[in-house]
Amino acid sequence: MKVLVTGGAGRLGRSVATVLHRAGHHAVSVDRFDHPDPAVEDVRLDLLDEDAVVDAFARLQPDAAVHLAAIAVPFSAPELQILTTNTRLAQVVVDAALRAGARKVLAAGSPTVLGYGAPGGWTPQYLPLDEEHPTAPWNAYALSKSVVEGVVAMHARTATDAVLGSFRPCFVVSPEEWAGAPTQQGHTIAERLRDPALAAVSLFNYVDARDAGEFVLRWLDVADASVSGECFFVGAADALAVLPTAQAVAQALPSAAGAAENLPGTAAAFSCAKAERLLGWRPRRGWRTELQDAPDLVPAPAPTLAGGERS
Ligand SMILES: NC(=O)c1ccc[n+]([C@@H]2O[C@H](COP(=O)([O-])OP(=O)(O)OC[C@H]3O[C@@H](n4cnc5c(N)ncnc54)[C@H](O)[C@@H]3O)[C@@H](O)[C@H]2O)c1
Repeated sequence: MKVLVTGGAGRLGRSVATVLHRAGHHAVSVDRFDHPDPAVEDVRLDLLDEDAVVDAFARLQPDAAVHLAAIAVPFSAPELQILTTNTRLAQVVVDAALRAGARKVLAAGSPTVLGYGAPGGWTPQYLPLDEEHPTAPWNAYALSKSVVEGVVAMHARTATDAVLGSFRPCFVVSPEEWAGAPTQQGHTIAERLRDPALAAVSLFNYVDARDAGEFVLRWLDVADASVSGECFFVGAADALAVLPTAQAVAQALPSAAGAAENLPGTAAAFSCAKAERLLGWRPRRGWRTELQDAPDLVPAPAPTLAGGERS
């Protein structure tokens, strides 16, 4: 399948394009920058230029498109710029992909649509959070992501021969970030674990970028008309916290302490049950298996007893 990945040179897009390429798809990164792997085809384009996008997509004749390009960090640009850029990118890309003949189109939303971190306070109605939970965006980034999901749902209502979907990747951790590179927020993953206040605002959500790539692969492989227009949370199975999740959430957000009692052990505060139920995807990686060079945070595996039994 020829798959255009907008934002294919970015933190998430790099892994998505690599996973698709390794699975045998023809992944084409459409971005202002190149994908680091020369084996992935690059098309350099300003995706805000609608005519250029329509022309390029018509020439490329994609089977599918995965739309990730965006201003991806809240408050990293003026609010109006974030709102207009992200919403324009979504409409231009989804429309051009369908006009060029793509039969599968998936776009990235964000868990921030829920409204966590709002200056006036925010309390989840229940935990774990799922796709049915009401949204309450409180900044231009979160609102733009709400609109991205709406753009997808709108086209899903009218496209008779294409399947569309959106997903909400949790805080994306790329392979180099497990090795100590700074994350989207500037600090390292080890720092985020040592200072719970850093991850508390988003209820300790995260996802390995390769797991998110595998979600995209799975969606492209199995999504059909029965799930067109649906949105999926895509996160790790556990929380990015050293403490048991209920304890970590109760400390960070006392108003959610009661709801957090539903979270067993290290379980994530975000449920990916819908993606597992409808698509058969589940995350495979977590910080305890991936984080490097932080022995104080990641306990050594239990010693193996003679005869191969574990205590
Ligand atoms: N990183 C996260 O934790 C996270 C969490 C939730 C949702 N998301 C969403 O996932 C997507 C990818 O996020 P990311 O972290 O990889 O972001 P990123 O900033 O690392 O990558 C975005 C890519 O889009 C490209 N791009 C942006 N505007 C463009 C334009 N006009 N023309 C061409 N290319 C353009 C950039 O060059 C960049 O390579 C975004 O839609 C983001 O909102 C990310």
